[in-house]
Amino acid sequence: MTRIYTLVNQKGGVGKTTTAINLAAYLAKLGQRVLVVDLDPQANATSCLGVDKHGVQSSTYEAIINEDAPAGFILFNERLQLSLLPSSPALAGAEVELVDEPGREFRLKNALDSLDDKYDYILIDCPPSLGLLTVNGLIAAKDGVLIPVQCEYLALEGLGELTRTIQRVRSALFPALQVRGVILTMFDGRTLLSQDVVAEVHKYFPEKVFDTIIPRSVRLAEAPSYGLPVSSYAPGSNAAKSYELLARELLKNDGIMLAESME
Ligand SMILES: Nc1ncnc2c1ncn2[C@@H]1O[C@H](COP(=O)(O)OP(=O)(O)OP(=O)(O)O)[C@@H](O)[C@H]1O
Ligand SMILES: [Mg+2]
Repeated sequence: MTRIYTLVNQKGGVGKTTTAINLAAYLAKLGQRVLVVDLDPQANATSCLGVDKHGVQSSTYEAIINEDAPAGFILFNERLQLSLLPSSPALAGAEVELVDEPGREFRLKNALDSLDDKYDYILIDCPPSLGLLTVNGLIAAKDGVLIPVQCEYLALEGLGELTRTIQRVRSALFPALQVRGVILTMFDGRTLLSQDVVAEVHKYFPEKVFDTIIPRSVRLAEAPSYGLPVSSYAPGSNAAKSYELLARELLKNDGIMLAESME
């Protein structure tokens, strides 16, 4: 049975993509069959995994607009043992092209349904907006949404709008849609501000916040320029450890027992 989670927050730069690829990399390292779906026309997840977005032949765009079965063009990274449904700049047109299409909100869900149970986990990386692409991401989020929140000033800004969008999608299109968890990112233990944000987010989303907090780390910011997740770029770093812990926390909450420990 595949678990599908969507990383969503319409605020830009909060760590959606960084969390998607690094969580995915550790889930794969821990023996899960994992697919990252890049649903953002910026194609950052695609680039962060070392794929040139301009060289992508078929992408999320073709899966959504042409309804091509994605199994044929999912890329597999041998080194990371990780699959990617890449994005391409063409996806920027999809919001407009979808508007008059029948079943426009269900295109991504249908595409992923066609993969049957080939993966244990599918993580979908959304663009920083609440448009039709993100709505496709919400409808495909069979097991819930993961909301990264940056431990910075104005962290809670926009979360009301996000919560209302989730409620609207729930009541109109997908009653089972749930918030699976909130992930605190870019935490700086030296500032009182970061600590305040942690407390505020716990108050705003009681029982929903992951125990694991992702620290601010220059290693996480550097890794994408090498086309690598932090698990390969700086495996000994605190940032790497925190994403491994996050992966373990998710697996544990999902009731998945790990047979072996990592090397
Ligand atoms: N924990 C962290 N410590 C330091 N830098 C980070 C951390 N997480 C992410 N970054 C950096 O912050 C920037 C924004 O992160 P990221 O791209 O993951 O956010 P995003 O929410 O996906 O952004 P967008 O809304 O544009 O898609 C990137 O340059 C990334 O490398
Ligand atoms: Mg992103």
